[in-house]
Amino acid sequence: MKNIETEDLETYTLREAVATYGQEVIPLWKNAVYTKPYQLESRRYIGCKAKLTDWIFDLIKQETQDVHTFCDIFAGTGTISNRAINLYEKVIINDFLHSNNILYKAFFSAGEWNREKILNLLDAFNDIDVDSIKDNYFSVNYGGKYFDMASAKLIGHIRNVIEDIKPILTNKEYCILIASLIYSMDRIANTLGHFEAYIKKEIKPRKFIMRLVDAKSFNDVTIHQEDANILAKNIHTDIVYMDPPYNSRQYSRFYHVYEVLVKWDKPELKGDARKPAEENMSDYCRVKALNAFTDLVAHVDARYIVVSYNNTYKSKSSSSENKIKLEQIEEVLNKCGTTKVFTHKHQAFNAGKTEFEDHKEYLFITKVDNEKRNSSFTSILCR
Ligand SMILES: C[S@@+](CC[C@H](N)C(=O)[O-])C[C@H]1O[C@@H](n2cnc3c(N)ncnc32)[C@H](O)[C@@H]1O
Repeated sequence: MKNIETEDLETYTLREAVATYGQEVIPLWKNAVYTKPYQLESRRYIGCKAKLTDWIFDLIKQETQDVHTFCDIFAGTGTISNRAINLYEKVIINDFLHSNNILYKAFFSAGEWNREKILNLLDAFNDIDVDSIKDNYFSVNYGGKYFDMASAKLIGHIRNVIEDIKPILTNKEYCILIASLIYSMDRIANTLGHFEAYIKKEIKPRKFIMRLVDAKSFNDVTIHQEDANILAKNIHTDIVYMDPPYNSRQYSRFYHVYEVLVKWDKPELKGDARKPAEENMSDYCRVKALNAFTDLVAHVDARYIVVSYNNTYKSKSSSSENKIKLEQIEEVLNKCGTTKVFTHKHQAFNAGKTEFEDHKEYLFITKVDNEKRNSSFTSILCR
């Protein structure tokens, strides 16, 4: 048997794994050891609300009534949608990043997929002898930076193979393989959780292991990849949950390696950070953030607007300074209904540079009054 390193993975015999996780366990390599599939929350992502989900939904349940549809319009990891799926009849998930979109399709979209076929492919990927493969686009650009050279070679090779075998995969299977690649990469990336920069120290080589994500299928989930302000004009929902970026750090730049991996059109990459040309740059990270937020609130057809906010604008680093102030959020929301504000002390995930003093998480819940909203925003709505 090949000596697969299982460092950092909780591995079990089949009997132990079933006792720990139930029947949903996966063989990690040729039925030799078993583990749990990657859960949606197990990815590092700036601003992920996984630790706040209970608090957010306790408040939403307390403050809202007769809710059938929930829209997570800046969904990020999808952790809020993941909870909403268990509570509401219809869930709309949106984020403009290519990588987030493919992850939602893997974790949530309805579609045929064959578990055995995927597990066999993962076995084959985990069986590749790295010395037998050539350098590729991924290893040339990112090897020795975001990943050790051997892992970068494997990742690029596996991504090429997934593209080559696309004709024999269903769309759901294709998304599951790419999602499994992203979640497996996150475990070994030589970063502080995003790709703005890599850690400038010698990279300790770690065996790259492909492991399955916890893919599910839901019929009443709709997935979009649009600018939130455009989507807002075309949906109706009982609750819209808004968790935009609030500082100048663009998500498309932070997660550029995943964007390149998903699109796989192999663009020219620039600079030491090996970034592609700009795409999906958010107005919420610019001086026009308040205008974008006002436009969104004015147009979205929802009975309740729920907004997450945190007070990082007091921080010392200018890239972490908030583009919209707390009072401005409240002022805009008050123009369209009755708003309640809730607070929670919370340590945000950041790259370690920024000292957040008295970091607080806020949740605004607005019960929309359409008459008030239409009269407050007449000039925007008539445009
Ligand atoms: C703070 S994160 C959301 C985190 C999410 N609530 C979670 O728990 O993972 C903000 C997200 O908004 C997305 N985004 C930023 N501007 C956007 C826009 N104009 N339209 C759609 N998505 C946008 C980013 O890609 C990012 O994933």
